[in-house]
Amino acid sequence: MLAKRRLPRAIFDFFDGGAEDEVTLRGNRAAFERVRLLPRVLVDVSTVETVVDLFGKPSSLPLAIAPTGGISAGRAGAELILARAAKASGVPFTMATPSAFTIERVAEEVGGRLWFQLYAVRDQEFRAKLVRRARDAGYEAILVTVDLPVSGKRERDPRNGFHTPYRPNWRNSRDVIFKPAWALEMLRHGLPGMANLEGYRFSTPTGTDIVTAVGREMDAGIDWEYIKRLREQWPGKLLLKGVERPDDAERAVAVGCDGVVVSNHGGRQLDGATPTLEALPAVAAAVGSKITVLLDGGVRRGVDILKARALGAQAVLTGRATLFGAMAGGEPGARRALEILSSELQRAMQLCGARSAAEIGPHLLYR
Ligand SMILES: Cc1cc2nc3c(=O)[nH]c(=O)nc-3n(C[C@H](O)[C@H](O)[C@H](O)COP(=O)(O)O)c2cc1C
Repeated sequence: MLAKRRLPRAIFDFFDGGAEDEVTLRGNRAAFERVRLLPRVLVDVSTVETVVDLFGKPSSLPLAIAPTGGISAGRAGAELILARAAKASGVPFTMATPSAFTIERVAEEVGGRLWFQLYAVRDQEFRAKLVRRARDAGYEAILVTVDLPVSGKRERDPRNGFHTPYRPNWRNSRDVIFKPAWALEMLRHGLPGMANLEGYRFSTPTGTDIVTAVGREMDAGIDWEYIKRLREQWPGKLLLKGVERPDDAERAVAVGCDGVVVSNHGGRQLDGATPTLEALPAVAAAVGSKITVLLDGGVRRGVDILKARALGAQAVLTGRATLFGAMAGGEPGARRALEILSSELQRAMQLCGARSAAEIGPHLLYR
């Protein structure tokens, strides 16, 4: 709510909204709310341990920060803020392709455990260059987003006049006037660009909403052959982000991926896509013993992390939960969001009789 109060409506809605009727957006949350836990009692839970192994290294929580593009439009330096908060909390941060800061700058200025989210843009040479840059800057993993061959139809954006370039009208001007803290910051720092795409030739330079502008640059023709080629080019961990089907997860294993993120892009792409928590068990059953299965979509509280692990995820990614922390309170706000998730997870583990992340399993679910 603090984030909502601070941001112009068009920007808040760009962060908060989903595709079309937002059925999947709501469904992601509803799926968490439907899960019933069966707590185990009389276990010594005077201390609990939330650390998990992610790709052979410890993460202080079963959590990484999800890639979110365009976020410096809400607060200057938002990507750096989230990366710093992730580093301080001992969890990985995923840098989005459409970020206001370059791959290199986040690595140099912040460091920590960095993953890079790759959008397969049409220009194949440019795409290959992004992969080389992530490798040279020492990123640990690439998450290829595979649920966005075209952009989802997010109706709040055009309705709010969230266009590039910015075209002032009464509604969006009034909105800005009443958000002085945000407006002053943007006056001081300027509206952010997409630093990683500097030099990229957009096919539709003007007059379209932002989501459509980025969506039009996606190569809707990429298929498993591309992932195979990428596997040869990229020496680090390779994950597909946006998988909901067990057969796709099995193909990811077959082409040499190290993980999948069960995701529907936070309800921002296919409206009608299955809530991720419902899709998770079948994916985990198919590939969970071979590769790392992560989940995102609708994680808002620590107990949600416990539910996701009980249903087969190794860890979750958080999009809006940590993003709104950063919007409300900058770096302290982002850290606070992570602290809340951490303390809620610890409490949920204590109340469930799970002393470590390894002790969170399907036995805690009421079926
Ligand atoms: C404002 C915003 C921007 C996003 N940008 C990207 C992006 O650039 N690349 C990507 O793969 N996913 C992007 N996502 C999706 C997130 O990575 C993640 O899948 C989703 O937010 C998870 O759902 P949650 O917000 O309910 O946690 C974005 C999400 C939001 C809210």
